[in-house]
Amino acid sequence: MNEKKYKPCDLVIFGALGDLSRRKLMMSLYQLDKANFLEPQTRIIAVDRLPGNRTIFTEIAHKSLLEFLPCPIVDEAWARFSARFEYLQLDISSADEFKKLGAILDQKNRTTVNYLAIPPFLFKSICTGLQKAKLVSKDSRIVIEKPIGYDLKSSQEINDTMQAVFNEEQIYRIDHYLGKETVLNLLALRFANSIFTTNWSHSTIDHVQITVAEDVGIEGRWEYFDKSGQLRDMLQNHLLQILTFIAMEPPVNLEAKSIHAEKIKVLNALRPIADYNVGKRTVRGQYSKGYLKGKEVPGYLEEVGANTESEAETFVAMRVDIDNWRWAGVPFYLRTGKRMNSKRTEIVVYFKQQPHNIFKDSFYDLPPNKLIIHLQPKEGVEIEVLNKIPGIDGSIRLQKNKLDLSFLSQMKKHVSGGYERLLLEAMRGNNTLFISREETEAAWTWVDSIQRAWHNLSDSPKPYAAGTWGPNAADALLARDGRTWED
Ligand code: BG6
Repeated sequence: MNEKKYKPCDLVIFGALGDLSRRKLMMSLYQLDKANFLEPQTRIIAVDRLPGNRTIFTEIAHKSLLEFLPCPIVDEAWARFSARFEYLQLDISSADEFKKLGAILDQKNRTTVNYLAIPPFLFKSICTGLQKAKLVSKDSRIVIEKPIGYDLKSSQEINDTMQAVFNEEQIYRIDHYLGKETVLNLLALRFANSIFTTNWSHSTIDHVQITVAEDVGIEGRWEYFDKSGQLRDMLQNHLLQILTFIAMEPPVNLEAKSIHAEKIKVLNALRPIADYNVGKRTVRGQYSKGYLKGKEVPGYLEEVGANTESEAETFVAMRVDIDNWRWAGVPFYLRTGKRMNSKRTEIVVYFKQQPHNIFKDSFYDLPPNKLIIHLQPKEGVEIEVLNKIPGIDGSIRLQKNKLDLSFLSQMKKHVSGGYERLLLEAMRGNNTLFISREETEAAWTWVDSIQRAWHNLSDSPKPYAAGTWGPNAADALLARDGRTWED
């Protein structure tokens, strides 16, 4: 076994034949098992409403790995992994059916981890079914995925449903960005290195940019996406989570409670965006037909299943201010979109310019230092500095250079996908990397205000051609502050 031991689990996957389970969970669990992170006694109990049995499920899981695993399946690892499977057909609308699950679970020797890979409207039946069948103990856990609601009210309903049966400590709300190595590395970078700790506030930082650009479109998920839009789908969760890691105060330790408490303070300090400032602070966009990697791709309104009248945004850019002592006067610019030029997730911290420039021969305007944190596709950290161009010609001329702290090569040795880490932490019983109820609701409160203001503004999203970096209005947003996006 690798690293920390934990009690074996019965990992119950509700919706085991669905998309999330086939695309992500099977692959991640297999990778964990292959790297010896799964307890030998841990079982995977696949639950779905469709008829099936262990053999059929094993075939489906194998096919999913063939389709989604980025490397060949290792026979020995697969044999060990598939030996963990059980399959149960279960109609969640009947509480009685849960007794069948009870007959399989081994609550005495294994922790039950219920993973709900199903839409939120089914959560209630599962929670009450588990409760009525006495399948919830102090030890059991429940894992849910975003979308945790559609707005504050619906997220409160989901949270109430969960909390009627499970304590907050037993609920693991996943944001898969919190499983990404580089997001976690932000904690190390900020709080283990005095060079950053002492230079992390309005006195040294000019502004911060967070870009989560995707080159994919909506990938056949029109119905879900159109109700949600990029603000709810990406910004309410992934971008705000990254923002909390950049902006939070040092937690007293690495325990879940301490980290959650600091993140909530950041979310509560976000300056509201409402009717009075939404026009100046935000940009909504929607992709039209364009070219990606030389191939023509359809616009959002031409996607399969599209409603051609839709005004859902596939791109958002905004200026966010954090009203607290540390960040007074430091704007955070956030941008995320589908069908952008390339897949790129990065954080760029711009430090302040030098107060006086003695190198005017090289740069009339001395460029600021930048800390660039790449999350994907490559992972790593770079610092942009100025150095002297080597030579003995008697002049001191400068050039921009990068200190490359890339850790991709070290990371390859590890299991590093977001889901692997989060599944493992849920099995270990550590909910530091999951989102608390208070965080979800604080994020929705802030996002709901933007959504309402957009509604009142009744402005259509600005078109941008697929394959570009979004609408011109996003450039204008920064230009108004005398800045440009890091492109
Ligand atoms: C999901 C969104 O949460 O994250 C998708 O629902 C998005 O729309 C995806 O494509 C992006 O995840 P990643 O890890 O590929 O950046």
